[in-house]
Amino acid sequence: MALIGQNSAMPTASTSVLHVEQGVNLRTLNSFGLPATAHTLVRIDSDAALRRVIDHPALGRAPKFILGGGSNIIFTRDPEAVVLKVEVRGLRLVQAQPDAWIVEAGAGENWHDTVAWTLAQGWPGLENLALIPGSVGAAPVQNIGAYGVELKDRFHSLDIVDLVTGRSVTLDASMCHFGYRDSVFKRELTGKGVISRVRLRLPRPWQPVLGYLELERKMHETGNAAPDAQTIFGWVCAIRRGKLPDPALVGNAGSFFKNPVVSVEQCRDIIGRDPEVAHYPLPDGSVKLAAGWLIDACGWKGKSIGRAGVYEKQALVLVNRGGASGAEVLTLARAIQESVYGRFGIRLEPEPVLA
Ligand code: EPU
Repeated sequence: MALIGQNSAMPTASTSVLHVEQGVNLRTLNSFGLPATAHTLVRIDSDAALRRVIDHPALGRAPKFILGGGSNIIFTRDPEAVVLKVEVRGLRLVQAQPDAWIVEAGAGENWHDTVAWTLAQGWPGLENLALIPGSVGAAPVQNIGAYGVELKDRFHSLDIVDLVTGRSVTLDASMCHFGYRDSVFKRELTGKGVISRVRLRLPRPWQPVLGYLELERKMHETGNAAPDAQTIFGWVCAIRRGKLPDPALVGNAGSFFKNPVVSVEQCRDIIGRDPEVAHYPLPDGSVKLAAGWLIDACGWKGKSIGRAGVYEKQALVLVNRGGASGAEVLTLARAIQESVYGRFGIRLEPEPVLA
């Protein structure tokens, strides 16, 4: 590892050096376990570290690729850009307002650990988002969501460091343009800045979100119609463990495709031929279809192409059966897209970033 100080006259305290690594194998830094090599990787533990990259004579000009927890990325080749691995830490209560707790987490904190920490502190509100793999900094990028709650429902603001000017800027929810698994960071701001801290707004008094079918089922099973946040946290963990693979054991990136949204007419047409199709009417009159159901209906559950496969318990999740390459994952994804399009006329859109 080379340590590059911005100014050689400065003391070599951790705040004055850049941790630059060459030829880094990224297999353990992405949850799909895909092989790729970063020619240069810099670990970013503060806004100041990022500014030193920007001011650095060679690194400053080079294109950058931002890597968080690596849970929503499919490496199809070696990145040509300098990889910035975001490792900004820190968890703290910013403010206890009468109607909300405002909590701040460093972008490099693990998302699930942050959820567990807030609950342990007595600040509920994130329990439905338990066990989502990845880092805090990645959560707003794709507006993570599960069991009736999306990040945007618990979002206060975030800090982003501009990759050109090095300035730290705070963005509120309206500036992030959150949508279904979407935000400004997947669009206009891609590669423009690095999210360093996220602040969450946890409303007081706490209100459970229990409308999701599988949580209703848990209430019936347990006879507990008024679960506390810790109980819901436990239920969500159990539901997820029951049907989603643990990335530590089986490489995956969660849902591989977004659930497609279609018009009422198109949904009616599909129901005419496939009355069982899982579908959810949206407030704007359109209908969301369960991509997992569509893929399952095309017979993909448990199938593989090469070393990339479709998870046995959830067809929306593609998995690494051991030693898969990004190209194999793409081949499988395209084959699935073609068969779903061939049968339903619907183009599935990948959810992870394809790099
Ligand atoms: N289904 C099938 N076969 C399958 C998979 C699903 O028939 O192989 C059916 C299910 O029976 C159900 C419907 O499809 O009727 C929906 O399935 P599920 O409840 O598992 O949810 P999902 O729409 O597949 C979404 C999120 C998940 C999130 C869950 C729970 C997306 C792309 N995915 O999955 O998020 O955990 O809801 O809220 O919106 C992720 O984004 O990585 C992720 C895991």
